[in-house]
This record gives sequence, structure tokens and C-alpha cells, in this order.
Amino acid sequence: MPVDLDRIALERVETWGPVFAARGCRLALGVEHAGHALAVPGAVEQILDNLLSNALRVSGPGSVVLLDRRLPRPTRRGHREPRPQYAELHVIDEGPGMTPEQRERAFDRFWRAPGSTEGGSGLGLSLVQRLAVAGGGHVVLEEAARGGIDAVVRLLAVPSRGGAGPAPGRGEALRQWPTLRTVPVPRLRSRPHSGARP
Ligand SMILES: Nc1ncnc2c1ncn2[C@@H]1O[C@H](COP(=O)(O)OP(=O)(O)OP(=O)(O)O)[C@@H](O)[C@H]1O
Ligand SMILES: [Mg+2]
Repeated sequence: MPVDLDRIALERVETWGPVFAARGCRLALGVEHAGHALAVPGAVEQILDNLLSNALRVSGPGSVVLLDRRLPRPTRRGHREPRPQYAELHVIDEGPGMTPEQRERAFDRFWRAPGSTEGGSGLGLSLVQRLAVAGGGHVVLEEAARGGIDAVVRLLAVPSRGGAGPAPGRGEALRQWPTLRTVPVPRLRSRPHSGARP
């Protein structure tokens, strides 16, 4: 079922922003858009809750976690086999990161890195992977440019309505706001916690 990734991302930032602020960290939303993608209803919310919970656990005071969004890259002309078009959500932290082996093992049920802080059961990422795959997508952990984790969620993009093919290429938002990398977390309304586990 097509879901609105941008709406869900904004909603998650509103929900988690105060939790990050209470720990002296900041949660920022990237300025690009991800559009619509296929996902089991409720899956993207759960995926982001788990990834944000992991990012917060490794974030020290003063650090920033970025929830970034990316549209699919336009298909190259003349490409014989049309490739699946993935919209991407990224949860990028400034924590200690993981080795390449750990980044793969982290999706195993009950696996936790040696020395992990208490308070988790090691199930979150395996659930995240199952939810993404159920909608035709997948999740990978990559090394972030600044050494932390870049958790990448790829979901099958649904072309915009009336749309001719894939959505516009990356960078459109940055052309509109060339000096901005992230937008501040919007003003927060108090609302009940929606089941997210900090
Ligand atoms: N952003 C991250 N930075 C560093 N290590 C991470 C990060 N995300 C996950 N890990 C490591 O991967 C392990 C598995 O993560 P996972 O989300 O599956 O379980 P958990 O967070 O320990 O527990 P649960 O999600 O069930 O509460 C974590 O215990 C941690 O060692
Ligand atoms: Mg977790």
C-alpha cells in the first residue's frame, strides 16, 4: 500500500524531538523529499521508531541525528531493464559506529554488540528488516561520513500522481534552499507518546 514517507518522517520528528532534546541531543529533518513508497501500513513508523531509538542510545549530549529523505534517482535513458526505483530514508548518527561485520550481524535476532548499554533485547533491527522486506524493500547499515551509523531504508517508490515516471532527481530541494542542509525541528505540540521506545 502506498504510504507518504514525508508525512511519516515529519510526524516521527515531532514525536521524537522532545525525547532527543531531553537528552541534550538534536533530531534534524533533511530538506529533501522521499515521496510515496510501498509499505505495510504502520511499518515505516515502526522502522523509524527502532532506528531512532538505536541512534539516540549512542548519541552523546550535543550530538545531532539526521533523518534524511531521498527520492529515487531518475532512470538512465536507454537502460534496457528498468530497475526498481527506491525511495530512501536515512537515520544518521554521530555515535561510535560499528565494524563491517557488526553491521551485518546486527540484523540477527538477539545480537547485541559486545559492551552495548543495557536496555535492549537485540530484536529491533531484525524486526526492521522484516517490515521493510514485507513491503518489497530492505534496510542496510552503512558507515556515516562522520563515523557513526547511516541506517538506510529503501522502499519501492510509487510515482507521484499524474506523474510521468520517477520523481525528480536528488538535489531539487537543495537547489531551492542552496544554503540549507537541514531544517530545524518544527515547533512541538504536546501530544501523547505514540508507543515509541526511547
Ligand atoms: N546506531 C547504532 N550505532 C551503534 N551500534 C548500533 C546502532 N544500532 C544498533 N547497534 C548495535 O546493534 C545491536 C542490535 O540492535 P537492535 O536494534 O537489533 O537491538 P537493541 O537496540 O539492542 O534492542 P531492541 O531494539 O530490541 O530494544 C545493538 O545492541 C547495538 O549493539
Ligand atoms: Mg534497537
